[in-house]
Amino acid sequence: MSANQIAPFPAVVDSLSHDGRGVARVEGKVWFVEGALPGETVIVRPTKIRRSFSLGLVDKIIVQSKNRTKAPCQYFGTCGGCALQHLEHSAQLTFKHQTLLDALVKAGVGPVGVTNPIGAMPWGYRRKARLSVRFVPKKGGILVGFRERNNKYVIPLAECLVIDPSVNSVLATLPSLLHGMSAPDRFPQIEVAVGDNATALVFQHLEPLTTADTYRLEQFARENNLLVYSQSGGSGSVEAIFPAQPVLLDYALPEFSISVGFSPTDFIQVNRLVNQALVGMVIDWLDIGATDSVLDLFCGLGNFSLPAARGAKRVLGVDQSPSLISRARDNAHRNGISNTAFECRDLCSKDLEIWDPGQFSKVIVDPPRSGALEVLNFVNERVKPRFLAYVSCDPATLARDAASLTKSGAYRLVKLGLADMFPHTAHIESVALFHRCEDTVPGTK
Ligand SMILES: C[S@@+](CC[C@H](N)C(=O)[O-])C[C@H]1O[C@@H](n2cnc3c(N)ncnc32)[C@H](O)[C@@H]1O
Repeated sequence: MSANQIAPFPAVVDSLSHDGRGVARVEGKVWFVEGALPGETVIVRPTKIRRSFSLGLVDKIIVQSKNRTKAPCQYFGTCGGCALQHLEHSAQLTFKHQTLLDALVKAGVGPVGVTNPIGAMPWGYRRKARLSVRFVPKKGGILVGFRERNNKYVIPLAECLVIDPSVNSVLATLPSLLHGMSAPDRFPQIEVAVGDNATALVFQHLEPLTTADTYRLEQFARENNLLVYSQSGGSGSVEAIFPAQPVLLDYALPEFSISVGFSPTDFIQVNRLVNQALVGMVIDWLDIGATDSVLDLFCGLGNFSLPAARGAKRVLGVDQSPSLISRARDNAHRNGISNTAFECRDLCSKDLEIWDPGQFSKVIVDPPRSGALEVLNFVNERVKPRFLAYVSCDPATLARDAASLTKSGAYRLVKLGLADMFPHTAHIESVALFHRCEDTVPGTK
């Protein structure tokens, strides 16, 4: 049976799915209902029927949640960027808190209390983004924005309330800028990166730029006080257009008197103030002292390694990306830090015989969404740190990895914290502190 053969029907929503849809159970079948909130009774319009679950949209709200709020963004509901603007911000945090706990409990880890969420800047926080560009003559030409929810179309954005104001202020002008280029249909993406010192836009292009194109981009950069780059292929093909001599972006970690330099295509944590607090919390929880050797896995630019090095005897940072490792070394130098080393390695490899057992007393792990199972097994069996802080952007892989650490009996989860890194989206950033069972919790000795 197809979705349009089923008439809209009433349903009571009991929870939110991991991607922010209302979950309702009707006649034994699970429905994921876009736009619905827990506690609401809604009329569901079916959109997709699957064997084990079905998808629908809210046609009408019969009983409204007290946590429902009017989404301030004009594109909310269509744009794929935010999923939770219709839920009060404090209720978003409650949802994330509960999702995190549920994932851990389901994996047999815990129970443990969650500390108050680190939060700041619920709007205008996003300092890294990839804007999609499409040339669609029947929709007026160039469209610049995020992907729509549930499909590959681009929603043209005249504004974005979560992106940094320096990018928001030029969003509406990007289509006309590209319309004036020699091959306007050959720009698939604009990557934006915001440092404390400047904002950079990287224009990906599939045809070589003409002199007139370069001049046009240069003028745009001057008029809007931006750094502008071109990118013809992979990240190694990024070239500065204005200023001609590339300017390193940077962000500060003031608590540690550290300035982190980065290039516009490098990974950085999306939310400046939340990152500052997150780094502070990890270093504080690990209670790093002058006798500690710290291993920072998935270290990137040294976002945690460099602050850790301020207090530790020494720090080793490891990441797969040669360019990030090179920048991490530069960042140590830039900050006058000499007790760090950085190594380039694939931490998902099965062959991780790389560090001497017992060498590191404290470990930081900050993997991508896929988690860190392979390297955690190695850490658990060979490195055996007393304390391990796991920074996670996906509760499901955190729970899986936490279970592998704790089920062996070697580690215990002692602290759990939520960081409101991505307000109004369903993404959940958290930190979990584990300690080796024969040891005590930092600060409680
Ligand atoms: C969530 S980012 C964290 C970066 C850094 N800790 C920070 O706070 O900015 C994840 C990092 O994992 C690295 N990475 C991804 N897959 C990897 C792998 N298989 N082995 C080693 N590093 C990897 C990426 O290059 C990226 O720097």
